[in-house]
Parts: sequence; C-alpha cells; structure tokens
Amino acid sequence: MTAVPLRLPRRLVEFTLDGQETRVPEGSTILDACRAAGKDIPTLCQGDTLTPKNACRVCVVEVEGARTLAPACSRRAEAGMTVLTDTERARHSRKVVLELLASSTDLSTTPRAAEWLKEYEAKPDRFGPDAARVNEEPKVDNDLYVRDYDKCVLCYKCVDACGEQWQNTFAIAVAGRGFDARISTEHDAPLTDSACVYCGNCIEVCPTGALSFKSEFDMRAAGTWDEPAQTETTTVCAYCGVGCNVTLHVQDNEIVKVTSPHDNPVTHGNLCIKGRFGFQHVQNRV
Ligand code: SF4
Ligand code: SF4
Ligand code: FES
Repeated sequence: MTAVPLRLPRRLVEFTLDGQETRVPEGSTILDACRAAGKDIPTLCQGDTLTPKNACRVCVVEVEGARTLAPACSRRAEAGMTVLTDTERARHSRKVVLELLASSTDLSTTPRAAEWLKEYEAKPDRFGPDAARVNEEPKVDNDLYVRDYDKCVLCYKCVDACGEQWQNTFAIAVAGRGFDARISTEHDAPLTDSACVYCGNCIEVCPTGALSFKSEFDMRAAGTWDEPAQTETTTVCAYCGVGCNVTLHVQDNEIVKVTSPHDNPVTHGNLCIKGRFGFQHVQNRV
C-alpha cells in the first residue's frame, strides 16, 4: 500500500466543462477535471510524474474566447472559463495529430492507439507507405532494455526522466532538428558506452513502447507476450534500506518486467538498476 501525504486543502475553482458546472482544486489542469468527470481525452506526452511538455497536442480542447485550441494536459482550469472537449474543431485536430503520428511512427505497442484512431476516424494510410520517420532496426545493445525508435513519437518524456526532472543522468537527449530530430545518446553511442545507469526510469514513462524491457521485446518477437494473462504484485524492493515499492509483472510464473507505482510520494515511479532489472535471481534458483 502506498502512503498518501496530507496536503493543505486547496481552494476550489469553478468553471463550465461541456455545459456542466464543475469544481476542481486550484491548480488542477483541464485534463484533471476531465478525468474527474469521466471524460476520455487522449494523451501521449502527458505524464503523471512529469511536468507537461505540450509536445503531442493530441489532448486539445476549446476554451471559449481563446484563438487557438488549448492542450488540456497543461492548461490550468480557471474560474469562470468555459471549456468544450468534444467540438468538431477539437476532434478534427486530434484526428490530424493521430493521422500524422500513426503515418510516421509505429504505434502498434502504444496502449489505446488503435482505439483512438477508430474513435477519431483517423486515416494514416493516406500519407502512403513512405511516411515513416525513422525506419531503422531496434537498438539491442545490452541485456536489459531495447530502444526501438520506429515507435518514438518524440514526446521527450524519457529525456526529462533521465535528465533534470528525475534521474539527473542526462544519458539521452534530442539530437538533430526538424524532421531529423531524434532521441539519442551522446554521439549516438551504444548505451553501454553512454552515461546510462540502467535505472529504466525512461522505460517507465515511455508512452509507446519505444523503450522496453529486453524480456518484453524478446517475448513480443517470439509471440509469447500476453499482457492480459499477467498479474501485477506490488511489494518492497529488498536490495537496500530505502525500500522502494516495486510492481512485479508476472507471466507463467516468471517476472517479465518491473514497474513502480507513480503515486508513491518518495519514488514517483522511479527505481535504480537493482529494483528495475535485478529480478533474474528470483526465478533462477536451481
Ligand atoms: S535507463 Fe536511466 S540513465 Fe539510462 S537512459 Fe534511461 S533514464 Fe537515463
Ligand atoms: S522514446 Fe518514448 S519517451 Fe522517449 S521521446 Fe520517444 S516515445 Fe517519448
Ligand atoms: S498530452 Fe497534452 S500535449 Fe501531449
């Protein structure tokens, strides 16, 4: 169980959301309000442990009086504002974003991407077969995790998690400009020659599966990855006295990957190499 720290009570902000009077704690985003009201707004670059990056724009909504659409993930709810989440303009914008992303990127392991493409009637095929942005083999240069940049939507979440927002390792950054922009280690070196400390905190936040455990990558390639059949058990990492929470994903009695609860007030979903990847000994006892 995760302990939730007590916070000072916040004032409530009242505004209109799709015609309904809505009240949310001061500082909440429009997305927070939408989720509290059960509205399903797609998101990709938003992360519950990261500062909004406003990179993907798949979450846009209309704010009355505003010239442009607003990203729900970062725009704070303000008293008296009127927000519309399901207008033709907002839906069309989401559709175009999804079409552009799905035509240039492999979204096959992005949770809910297929559902959103259908919901917004996006037709990525209209850009033709040559629209792929990267088109390269997955980078398999270590035993712990794989980087498959064909699946990268350039949301920058991994860069923020590796850099100043959490890990402060700065092993990866954005290289290149415009259409050539990509996530890379310094001089595109293999991870083993980079500053990476294999905390896997970048995998934790990646929304598309571009970064994945080697175990998951191998099982997907073999056709044995079966997420619905997996169980998740949250326990305490036994490697040191910090006692981070780890969530073990188990399939066929084997740990296949390890995540960490994002609502933990100490670790916020982050781990070190031991908690993240040091699970082989559990299943190699003989
Ligand atoms: S595993 Fe950790 S150190 Fe390595 S690139 Fe990812 S976030 Fe950075
Ligand atoms: S690798 Fe994942 S987290 Fe990093 S920018 Fe690409 S999609 Fe985002
Ligand atoms: S989820 Fe809001 S801009 Fe990407």
